[in-house]
Amino acid sequence: MRVPMIAGNWKMNTTVDDAVALVKAMLPGLDRVGGVDKLICPPFVSLAAAGDLLKGTSVKLGAQNVFYEAKGAYTGEVSPLMLAGMCEYVIVGHSERRQYFNETPEIVDKKVKAALAAGLKPVLCIGERLEENEAGITGEVLTRQLTASADQMYFKSGLVIAYEPVWAIGTGKSATPEQANATIGFIRKLVAHHLGADAAEGVRILYGGSVTADNIAGLMQQPEIDGALVGGASLKADDFVSITKQASEAGGAA
Ligand code: 13P
Repeated sequence: MRVPMIAGNWKMNTTVDDAVALVKAMLPGLDRVGGVDKLICPPFVSLAAAGDLLKGTSVKLGAQNVFYEAKGAYTGEVSPLMLAGMCEYVIVGHSERRQYFNETPEIVDKKVKAALAAGLKPVLCIGERLEENEAGITGEVLTRQLTASADQMYFKSGLVIAYEPVWAIGTGKSATPEQANATIGFIRKLVAHHLGADAAEGVRILYGGSVTADNIAGLMQQPEIDGALVGGASLKADDFVSITKQASEAGGAA
């Protein structure tokens, strides 16, 4: 059985003070929700403060990006070793990084590998752009993005996949539960093809793209969808707690 996960990607939002206030506002509600892994991913500069507040709670901490080298002359970058003591998860290959920072599947794969080697659990984001969707090449795009990171070792190490169609991110136009389920089913088959049935059965695949407290229940009813990577709605404490609670109820939580 896969434990559902609800993850909040705060993106480039919140000062340290804002982040502390947001964690304090959502923590009591989140901590009470059982049967779901709860993850928040604030900006790098707020990880330490957020981590202090999360100590001893059931809410996990993640970063939003990581570089693939361990150390050296890479001004401005943050290495897996720096994150390893601070957080458990790291988002890798988000479409905004692919789009604005030219991250290729090969770069993303190096980041996944480096994160795992440092003991971090990557949340690998894949997803097609609108024009790719309209051109009917979603399958090819996802195959290219995933195949670079299709390594048996990754899946044994707790890698999570997030399917985030770019056309659904920040647009208010979520994929329908049926669309998301079908594409995540396709991704699971890709994993099975490369790595076998056990890896495919075990890997958690989240949906991301305009997830809200109003649409999470429908998404969670789908058998292939193991949770959500939430952007905008993860910045509102009540909404994020509500999303997490609804995922717990739908996920047959303990
Ligand atoms: P929104 O939920 O704001 O659409 O963002 C989704 C996302 O990119 C999460 O990583």
